[in-house]
Amino acid sequence: MRNTTIKWLGVTAALTLALTACEGEGAGSGGADPDAEPEDLTVGVAMPTQTYERWVSDGNNIEAQLEEAGYNVELQYADDDIPTQSQQIDQMITQEVDALIIASIDGSALSGQLDAAADAGIPVIAYDRLIRDSEHVDFYVTFDNYEVGVNQAQSLLYGLGVLDENFEEANDAPEGPLNVELFAGSLDDNNAHFFWDGAMDTLEPYFDDGTLEVPSGQMDIEQAATQRWEQETAQQRMENLLTTHYSGGEELDGVLAPADPLSRGIINALRNDGWGETIEDGLPVVTGQDAEIATISLISEGVQHSTIFKDTRDLAEQAVIAAQAFLDGEEPEPNNTEDYDNGEIVVPSYLLDVQMILENNYEEILVDSGYYTEEQVESGQL
Ligand code: BGC
Repeated sequence: MRNTTIKWLGVTAALTLALTACEGEGAGSGGADPDAEPEDLTVGVAMPTQTYERWVSDGNNIEAQLEEAGYNVELQYADDDIPTQSQQIDQMITQEVDALIIASIDGSALSGQLDAAADAGIPVIAYDRLIRDSEHVDFYVTFDNYEVGVNQAQSLLYGLGVLDENFEEANDAPEGPLNVELFAGSLDDNNAHFFWDGAMDTLEPYFDDGTLEVPSGQMDIEQAATQRWEQETAQQRMENLLTTHYSGGEELDGVLAPADPLSRGIINALRNDGWGETIEDGLPVVTGQDAEIATISLISEGVQHSTIFKDTRDLAEQAVIAAQAFLDGEEPEPNNTEDYDNGEIVVPSYLLDVQMILENNYEEILVDSGYYTEEQVESGQL
């Protein structure tokens, strides 16, 4: 692993030298002039969709921070449509942007765009989601995605009473078996696999010793996946699971859900099927991710059990720092050079920490810090 990294850094250094040597050969041939003023440089930002609250904040934060540093910004959303995103990136390359920040829809669908960017000397920063199958991903900024999955599973185990508030084995843990169902994200998103692996590695001992059971038997990521992370798809799958496996009075104690909109779809299905309005009156424990405002509202009302907070302001900041380094003719500093192999190279990465949010800590982490106001939590709207 280490050798690959060192080799890769060597290649990067050689590439940087080659790119520097090409400078001044005309537009598009060698990347930005490191002495150029930010006002003369443009950063292309490709985001997947506006249907998830987080990507809207990500886009706004990146744009604001780049503009603050003096750069021009070309920000595009692709409505979760793969050809649209490819076209948008093609167009940014044709327009000769000086750096690209990309949150991909399908992580394996952008090799052609990345080849063209490399030919034009445009550095590419993968944002939150790894871009796969290309040697031309120059840097990756993200959260600790495996840890997201671990936190989701731990919060589920805590909600089920298997772990105590210190996330250690609870003294008064229920006998079991406890029934859970599992949901995963979109298979074309590299993160979905990291979330799933973190969660399943954490849950596995409890499946093995019979504490937990999955009555549907759907325990592979392919069976649990939610194409394009769509809320409606998760809601429908939950409805089907309830009809097929829980119509004879079987208990359902918890649901592993990987993102807040999916959690809300799952909760809709459960409420419509009469499982109760809150956890206290029978709703199974449902996890989440992204700390969306509608979900924090549900957590404050004891409806959704947990979510994972990933501060997108910090992620935007890391993307801007990386872009700035490339535009200044330097290399950004990774804090992880081992975990994100994209099938071609191990991409130098910068990982940020994540935080588990529960009913007993959302106030302190999200309201007292000023991230959300009490009114926003009450209304469930920004
Ligand atoms: C992100 C999550 C998000 C999901 C759906 C993942 O790649 O890391 O924060 O919930 O995509 O948009």
